[in-house]
Amino acid sequence: MQVGIDMGNLAGGDAAKLDIEELLATRLLVQGNSGSGKSHLLRRLLEQSAPWVQQVVIDPEGDFVTLSDKFGHVVVDGERTEAELSGIANRIRRNRVSCVLTLEGLDLEEQMRAAAAFLNGLFDADRDFWYPVLVVVDEAQMFAPSVGGDVSEDARKMSLGAMTNLMCRGRKRGLAGVIATQRLAKLAKNVAAEASNFLMGRTFLDIDMARAADLLGMDRRQAEMFRDLKRGNFVALGPALSRRPLPIVIGAVETSARSSSPKLMPLPDAPQDVEDLIFTPDPEEFARPLTAVRRPTPAPRPTTDILAELSRSTPAIMQPAPSEPRVPVVELSEEEREERLMAVMSEILDDPQSAYRTDAVLYQDFLVRARMRRLPGAPISLSDFRRRTAIARSGVDATMAASDAWATVLSLSNGVSDDLQGVFLMMAKAALGAEPCPSDARIARAYGTHSARRARRLLGYFEEQGLIVVHTDFTGKRIVAFPDLQAETTPGSAEAPDGDDAKIAAE
Ligand SMILES: Nc1ncnc2c1ncn2[C@@H]1O[C@H](COP(=O)(O)OP(=O)(O)O)[C@@H](O)[C@H]1O
Ligand SMILES: [Mg+2]
Repeated sequence: MQVGIDMGNLAGGDAAKLDIEELLATRLLVQGNSGSGKSHLLRRLLEQSAPWVQQVVIDPEGDFVTLSDKFGHVVVDGERTEAELSGIANRIRRNRVSCVLTLEGLDLEEQMRAAAAFLNGLFDADRDFWYPVLVVVDEAQMFAPSVGGDVSEDARKMSLGAMTNLMCRGRKRGLAGVIATQRLAKLAKNVAAEASNFLMGRTFLDIDMARAADLLGMDRRQAEMFRDLKRGNFVALGPALSRRPLPIVIGAVETSARSSSPKLMPLPDAPQDVEDLIFTPDPEEFARPLTAVRRPTPAPRPTTDILAELSRSTPAIMQPAPSEPRVPVVELSEEEREERLMAVMSEILDDPQSAYRTDAVLYQDFLVRARMRRLPGAPISLSDFRRRTAIARSGVDATMAASDAWATVLSLSNGVSDDLQGVFLMMAKAALGAEPCPSDARIARAYGTHSARRARRLLGYFEEQGLIVVHTDFTGKRIVAFPDLQAETTPGSAEAPDGDDAKIAAE
């Protein structure tokens, strides 16, 4: 029986087909940086093929448990003994039920051991039950890492062994591996090499691109096409997909990813009677048994103090503490609020290490500081925070910020993804101010990395997007021109050290 499931669309609008029977024999590898749409792709594949084939999902984040409502997958929690897990896996094969093994909440080593026990249980099923099963492993580099280090050697061997069995020796037993990874270079080579079908999504790093090119038998220049793929866009190749590299757009899904990570939520406006709310106990509280009252542990005191105190009539320790002064609620004008906000932002950004922290971490810090300073009103959102951070870091002054040219810069920056804003604005500011072109090290810092190579690649990326033109003067110094701004930096040495480098290295 030949079943072609519909994965989405080709460039012309035709359906992109995946031959399930062929897939069972030839396995699939999905590769793409985080956020490229791999889990979405796996979900599309699982949903479309659910009526046709038994499925097992090894799910590190507990994302796929939502398949159970619509498609009846049994959810197996990975927090069990290895013997239990392999027993369940065995019965899964015998009864031909689809399932999701969720490893959410386990630490990495436990996840590896649980996945290994489960996969081995599937693998060791009796010959009578070697029916075909799609075995989907998301974030496969966790289970088949190319190098050791993070976990015990024992756990690594066990997990890698199970993944190798799945990909190299599973076929005869009906197991068809479908594995997804963010980084090909982090996935054990023998595991990747056994897949004959590929779906390649956005890939940023040269080393992953080179590995992808090798696997697909492309030359490395051709593999450059993976660099600029958008979310949900993949290049398909292999006997179950297409004989030639074929760009496809993955279609919609019916179930939703259950996001297990906490999302930032703006705080509600503080109610007027906040003190009342907090300090008035609910009637039921009096009915509840008192739990142990926590007292602060007193600091050790010198014996002489204690003796002196005992000789006084009322020990100082028993005297009531002076009540804390109430903080009055402040009314701020829009400008005052903005001023305080900027003060908090610069406190955070003045720390040289802040360049190497993620925006989410900085934002948390910002929220806390803003509350400590009693900034009234709703706090700014994460994306607004990111944008302000990028602008603040670019070092633009008030005059330039008010100029038409800067407005153009900001509108151009809308086409640049969040993580590249900082670099883009810094370069644009240098061009508008006719300053020397920032060095690789400076660009790297603006991107939050120490890698100069990465910095150069960012410029290459902007150039491909048509945002900048990079050229050199006769002494080899670099100039970056912005055609839309009719402006360019003055020549700057690409190799010059970053101003703060010495300081950062010393920390
Ligand atoms: N083809 C697509 N169509 C619509 N939304 C998509 C598509 N691919 C990914 N997304 C959305 O993009 C986000 C990131 O996708 P995800 O599959 O989680 O990426 P990855 O697993 O590669 O990190 C998710 O919110 C997902 O719903
Ligand atoms: Mg994912």
